[in-house]
Amino acid sequence: MTNYTTNVTPSWTAMLHGADYNPEQWRHRPDILEEDIRLMKLAKCNVMSVGIFSWVALEPEEGVYTFEWLDQVLDRFAANGIQAFLATPSGARPAWMSAKYPEVLRVEKNRVRNLHGFRHNHCFTSPVYRQKVTEMNTLLAERYSDHPAVIGWHISNEYGGECHCDYCQEAYRNWLKVKYNNDLEQLNRAWWTTFWSHTYTDWSQVESPAPHGETQVHGMNLDWRRFVTDQTVDFCRHEVEPLRKTERLLPVTTNFMEFFEGLNYWKFADLLDILSWDSYPTWHDHDGDTMQAAKIAMMHDIVRSIKQQPFLLMESTPSLTNWQPISKNKRPGMHLLSSLQAVAHGSDSVQYFQWRKSQGSSEKLHGAVVDHVGHEHTRVFRDVQDVGDALERLQSVRGSHVQAEVAVIFDWENRWAVKDSQGPRNSGIGYEDTVLNFYRAFWERGIAVDVIDMEQDLSKYKVVVAPMLYMVREGVGERFERFVENGGTLLSTYWSGIVNETDLCFLGGFPGPLRNVLGIWSEEIDGLHENDRNRLIATDGNKLELQGEYEVRDLCDLIHLEHAEALAVYGDDFYAGRPALTVNQFGQGEAYYIAARTTDHFISDLIEQITTKAGVTRTLSTPLPENVTAHARARAQGNDEFVFIQNYSNELKSVTLDNQSYADLIAGTELPTNSTVELEPYGIRILKRDLIR
Ligand code: GLA
Ligand code: ZN
Repeated sequence: MTNYTTNVTPSWTAMLHGADYNPEQWRHRPDILEEDIRLMKLAKCNVMSVGIFSWVALEPEEGVYTFEWLDQVLDRFAANGIQAFLATPSGARPAWMSAKYPEVLRVEKNRVRNLHGFRHNHCFTSPVYRQKVTEMNTLLAERYSDHPAVIGWHISNEYGGECHCDYCQEAYRNWLKVKYNNDLEQLNRAWWTTFWSHTYTDWSQVESPAPHGETQVHGMNLDWRRFVTDQTVDFCRHEVEPLRKTERLLPVTTNFMEFFEGLNYWKFADLLDILSWDSYPTWHDHDGDTMQAAKIAMMHDIVRSIKQQPFLLMESTPSLTNWQPISKNKRPGMHLLSSLQAVAHGSDSVQYFQWRKSQGSSEKLHGAVVDHVGHEHTRVFRDVQDVGDALERLQSVRGSHVQAEVAVIFDWENRWAVKDSQGPRNSGIGYEDTVLNFYRAFWERGIAVDVIDMEQDLSKYKVVVAPMLYMVREGVGERFERFVENGGTLLSTYWSGIVNETDLCFLGGFPGPLRNVLGIWSEEIDGLHENDRNRLIATDGNKLELQGEYEVRDLCDLIHLEHAEALAVYGDDFYAGRPALTVNQFGQGEAYYIAARTTDHFISDLIEQITTKAGVTRTLSTPLPENVTAHARARAQGNDEFVFIQNYSNELKSVTLDNQSYADLIAGTELPTNSTVELEPYGIRILKRDLIR
């Protein structure tokens, strides 16, 4: 397997601003294609993603290629200073291909092959589809890798989904043979198949999960999901191969989706030069509540953390989408705020879906920079211009990085496993929300966070939070121990340390490999009904100076202290008085265990105490008003730090700065020490200060 870890350095030097552009939909309207260029410049857009769904426009018949229209588009870009991410068109294929080679179409879980239609409907194993992709990508690479407008490859579009055809079954079995050393006995043991007599006696009996077949072997479900990720990465690698054969190498990316469960994005890290994702916040579902802002911030932080480098916001909407239950317009200020939130968390671009609304089909009413009216005199166009203006003033931010002292673990495999666990709460185990609740406590304090999987190096962090780490893979317990021993602060919760990599429960006491560092044994867990409540009562004189009591719900772990001490106990039920919050001194550091699901209020108080104790830096040392947060980027070399103060409320807010002096990068003004800055409703201020190292 080729290893592509040598990153191709991007050639662009400006912050990028642009959109998905579909000129193939307007080839019958050359006047519109001309007008687009004028409007792009007016909107201060400097990059377009083209070719994403252009396969039939590029190859109308098998082996007959019509690249001329794309030549013209790219030439016109080059002549006008507009750059392009050129897409490989595999996200949707021509009808002639599906008709001639039905194997390119996906087979669903129920083992029925799809008809032609929709998009993202291909088999990622099919030799014919792979061959067709190679032919197309080779031609694109040969023709355009030197084109002055082209700055990078946009591979396919939002990879996702799975295929259960015979090719995929075969590939799955081969993948398993590699993993289990060609030894069926190893597989049977790892999956605990003696249960219900599910033991395989021949490799040919192994099949992917099916609603009318096998779904109850949890280890098998997990391995299938791992295989789907690996096969998708392999397909992506196959797409990238011809693009790496040209003399001029361009960076490659593929656009990820928000918290998309189907693919473990960490596995793309080595293959892609730069990561990008598509962000569609549903602001209005969360009016008056910052959960949406925190959730989007968390996804930005995941994408940044995967490669520990700046990323691209590949898509977002300049106004509204057309797939949310209700499409409410962005309120004034929201577009700039939501765009620059991405920049605050490490994006070097703001890009949209889409440049111009299509005239027909399913996305004709999806927001775009250019509406059906066709001119620039719209509120949305002006909002886009404002972002363009802002990005011009933020050029110096490009390439700077977020330095986090805190890591929150959000692990894709754990997510798959815990949701499939069939344990104390089948009505919703709440993994994502639990992680987000912890994340938000840091976010609202303006504390930078990396969001990582359980394999990452922990040594650079002061605090690591591992909520609901149900699965603990080999070596992780030891790495947590080393982290705490060396002075780190670890926080874990109920329903951690239950199973290993193939979903076999740890024998000898939960939380398995985390038991030593946490200093507790979890004997039972109580699943509470929706209306059941218990209480967590702070013990007198506890080390964290927590006071009073807090409500708990959903899940209560019944633990025994081994080396740890209790900081709080349960208030009710037959386990009243038993530990509910503990800390274990371990080497130079401390490991906390939260035994029950608590309110946000408790998490907030706990994080306040723990971050203060651990000396975690906040972006601003002065207090932040409610619904206002601040995040920063800085360069590894150089003395500038860029501070983004964001107001997620519909009210005017003000923030008093500390005793450093600041410069407002958008307003172009200087702010003397201890200045107070005003923030409009949904307002954002971007300030520069000297970096104190
Ligand atoms: C995704 C796709 C785009 C478009 C948008 C609509 O992000 O990549 O092609 O369908 O959604 O919001
Ligand atoms: Zn297939």
